[in-house]
Amino acid sequence: MSNTAPSISAIHATSSAPRSDSSSSSHTTPASLTITRPDDWHLHFRDGDMLAMTVPATARVFRRAIVMPNLVPPVTTVALAEQYRHHIMAVLPEESNFEPLMALYLTQGTSPADVREAAQNPNIIGYKLYPAGATTNSSSGVRTIDAMGPVLETMQEFGVPLLIHGEVTEPEIDIFDRERVFIERYLAPITQKFPRLKVVLEHITTKDAADFVREAHDLVAATITPQHILMNRNDLLVGGVHVHNYCLPVLKRRTHQEALQQAAISGNPKFFLGTDSAPHVQAAKETACGCAGCFSAFTAIELYAEAFGQLNALDKLEGFASHFGADFYGRPRNTETITLVQKPWHAPKTVTHGGETWVPYWAGRALQWQVA
Ligand code: NCD
Ligand code: ZN
Repeated sequence: MSNTAPSISAIHATSSAPRSDSSSSSHTTPASLTITRPDDWHLHFRDGDMLAMTVPATARVFRRAIVMPNLVPPVTTVALAEQYRHHIMAVLPEESNFEPLMALYLTQGTSPADVREAAQNPNIIGYKLYPAGATTNSSSGVRTIDAMGPVLETMQEFGVPLLIHGEVTEPEIDIFDRERVFIERYLAPITQKFPRLKVVLEHITTKDAADFVREAHDLVAATITPQHILMNRNDLLVGGVHVHNYCLPVLKRRTHQEALQQAAISGNPKFFLGTDSAPHVQAAKETACGCAGCFSAFTAIELYAEAFGQLNALDKLEGFASHFGADFYGRPRNTETITLVQKPWHAPKTVTHGGETWVPYWAGRALQWQVA
């Protein structure tokens, strides 16, 4: 595995002077914000050579991350997750205390015995349910959710959380309705039938999802990505197709974006940070049938600070980014802190590693906050 450091073509702002509106003096110290070190409760590292790029990008800021299992072949067993975890640990610098938390890929063939084995392993955080065909590398996912009763029952009994990609895949359902219909058809019945099962509805994109999670019982929570609070479907489709803003579930209309912003800054502990950082090489995005996924790891906390700042809610960032996820998963809150300083800069336009190029989310655009 290559350990070459990725090169980032960041264009850092040359001036560290504060924004002109904050003071007339050129010696004012930039505003700063210190928060408990955050965790990323949903992301994609991929495997192989790429790990030397993706893992340090996240470990730069985050203390823990839930690593999604949609590799090819998928991470379906405890043994495969342990192997994958070793690949991740191998690219971490000695001094890093970053902790990958592994999600297992739920298939139609997962058995209650598999769940019991997973429950014994402290490195495994839960099972990820992909409806077959819903997103990148989901073809081995679940085809008949209604047949998963015994497995969900065992997860409930052993306290194993269920992480859900909440979209139906029926071809007749409009792509913009797939999350709402999933909630009605599958999620509502699951939460009713298994009231003691911990459920995370991942990367929510609609007001319907935010409302559902808020009103559901206490063991139902949701992650929110930076792109779903910073953007809506105009950012995908107006003035041309903006492929680097394409992810699944797809960006929705502005009213949904606003509902997600309100959920994120509400201080309600059911909503917490999960970037869904999902790298695809430039050529796989910029093509006739481009892959879904926004690669945000290099600017993740900065993007959330941007969004919370725009909403005048920076005081709500720490709960969302650093407390609520840990509380939900029954893990200790981190004891270290990070400091963000208000110093405008620009997100990298490209990232290169091992001869490949990625165009990250928000490429080349301005950001107000940097990690000190
Ligand atoms: C993710 C990926 O590329 O693995 N893509 C995405 O658009 N979010 C898969 C996922 O989380 O749906
Ligand atoms: Zn994801």
